[in-house]
Amino acid sequence: MAEDGYPSVNLMDSHATCPPVPPRLSQGQQCARVGQKALFILVSVALCGMIVEACLIHRLYQTECVTSASVSKIIAEQDAATAAKLHSPVISPFKPLAHLTDGQDVVHAKDIMAWSTDADPPLYKIDYKDRSLVIQKEGYYYVYSKVSFSDTGIFHHRVDLRTVKFTGKSINLLKSRKYSNHFKHPEQSNSYLGGVFHLSRDDAIFVKVSNTSKIVRQDLSENVFGAYMI
Ligand SMILES: *[C@@H]1O[C@H](CO)[C@@H](O)[C@H](O)[C@H]1NC(C)=O
Repeated sequence: MAEDGYPSVNLMDSHATCPPVPPRLSQGQQCARVGQKALFILVSVALCGMIVEACLIHRLYQTECVTSASVSKIIAEQDAATAAKLHSPVISPFKPLAHLTDGQDVVHAKDIMAWSTDADPPLYKIDYKDRSLVIQKEGYYYVYSKVSFSDTGIFHHRVDLRTVKFTGKSINLLKSRKYSNHFKHPEQSNSYLGGVFHLSRDDAIFVKVSNTSKIVRQDLSENVFGAYMI
């Protein structure tokens, strides 16, 4: 005991021997600590989420901008292409084709019709030679012809084929025959022929009528002859 009546030494001793223990926390304080930690984690997660979200929104907006820009660019290009198509006379097709009409330069034979080359008709991988369409590429073709005529008797309209397989001979592909009932006053009439045929290289197809002087030639598009690969 100290002389002043306080057990200071003993107290000091006991303090010296025992290392200072951190003040023990009560259960309530502990709970608050855990809560703080949890809150911190939650806030961090929320912040991270917000940052990620912001990045995603930014990205999405950029993509949308690019997409809408490229879409409008494509539309503009398509418009330009359509305009070009409308204004340019011939765009190369994928398959052979030909479409011939009547014209000022046309001189028919007695029974074989001729076709105009004046108007720069669409002829792609099919030649026009000697009043005939000459096939360059073997394949199946849709062949058609329409004529306007005025006849008092019987009028024949046919599409024939001249092929190297039958030298010199021509084969009939399509035929129509019209009988007029007006012997005194001829009436204008039309004939349309169309069908699919297998044609070889150098095959020549042509339009034959009973009398080319009976052909009505008011409008250039009234008489047509064409073929296209199918
Ligand atoms: C063709 O028609 C013309 C005019 O109608 C006529 O003069 C000519 O004799 C006809 N030709 C034939 C082969 O029928």
